[in-house]
Amino acid sequence: MSLETKFELSIDKIEKSRVDSIDFENVKFGSIFTDHMLVCHYKDGKWGKVEIKPYGPMSFAPSINVFHYGQAIFEGMKAYKDNNDDVWLFRPRENWARFNKSAERMAMPHIDEERFIDGLKALLDLDREWVRKGEGNSLYLRPFMVGTHEGVVAGPSSEFMFCVICSPARTYYSGKVKVQVAEHYSRAANGGVGYTKCSGNYGGQFYPTQLAQQEGYQQIIWTDDATHTKLEEAGTMNVFFRIGDTLITAPTSERILDGVTRKSLIDIAKSKGINVEVRAIVVQELLDAHAKGELLEIFGAGTAVTIGQIEGFAYQQKYYELPNVKDEDSYAIMLKTNLQGIQQKAIEDTFNWTEKI
Ligand code: COI
Repeated sequence: MSLETKFELSIDKIEKSRVDSIDFENVKFGSIFTDHMLVCHYKDGKWGKVEIKPYGPMSFAPSINVFHYGQAIFEGMKAYKDNNDDVWLFRPRENWARFNKSAERMAMPHIDEERFIDGLKALLDLDREWVRKGEGNSLYLRPFMVGTHEGVVAGPSSEFMFCVICSPARTYYSGKVKVQVAEHYSRAANGGVGYTKCSGNYGGQFYPTQLAQQEGYQQIIWTDDATHTKLEEAGTMNVFFRIGDTLITAPTSERILDGVTRKSLIDIAKSKGINVEVRAIVVQELLDAHAKGELLEIFGAGTAVTIGQIEGFAYQQKYYELPNVKDEDSYAIMLKTNLQGIQQKAIEDTFNWTEKI
């Protein structure tokens, strides 16, 4: 790939790639990183040179903003390789746009589309051997931005670092999970940061999730903070409910992330003739549907696992098991197969979602 960039770009290539030493069949999600990373600094009101350099530790003063006030946002994306060895991104401009929405809410600067997209493409071009072919293989991309201004005055940073690191991933099927419906803790509130991918949004979930895990549940289904009746997200993912032949998911809001996987699944489901309702869904509706035997599936949707199936949920100390829908009848499996097929170029991309690097 030869890339003409509208920004200054420097590439410091490593001498010998580590790629041959990686056991790609057994990589643990998010634990191994590719040879290179992208780094770009914001200072004096503007973004500077995009540097692609060997992945490795960085050194910062202990007083920088992110360590104290948490100006930190990120994105999660994936790159795929098709059978012709071409590398593809999936709806990357959606991630870029959402990154800037998160940035705005966190009083951080926007990053231009060129640095984000073309910078990512230049990085991927260098590390393309790390994108593996074959079903379930991908390279997870983690763009992030942190406040780097030195000083502990509580105010927005005036200096920032944009960085992209990449980690090989396999679609793992970790089995269905049991979840607990949140009755006390909240992930987000009106007027808050729930719709952003700011780091604190995730860090704040760890403690309630640990408590749920101590009770034997792997994840939490988050409810609205005001009434704890509206079902909003599952763990770090958007959430879908299948009642009869209808698929229901909550509308995006100030509290709910506008997930790229979520909106892609809605479009695929509609294209398959499934009735999709984007509307508020409350716990009582779930309990009623369960009592009538109509609650067939619940699943989370996010970039990392694509679709995470749920086998049952606890609410007010009572556990509700879902029926065992056969794989061939499962909306979750059908949607996952179709989405991954499009992402990996095994199924025609009629939506025009994939972008070659
Ligand atoms: C995703 O699946 O999109 C996520 O954000 C999960 C990530 C925090 C690992």
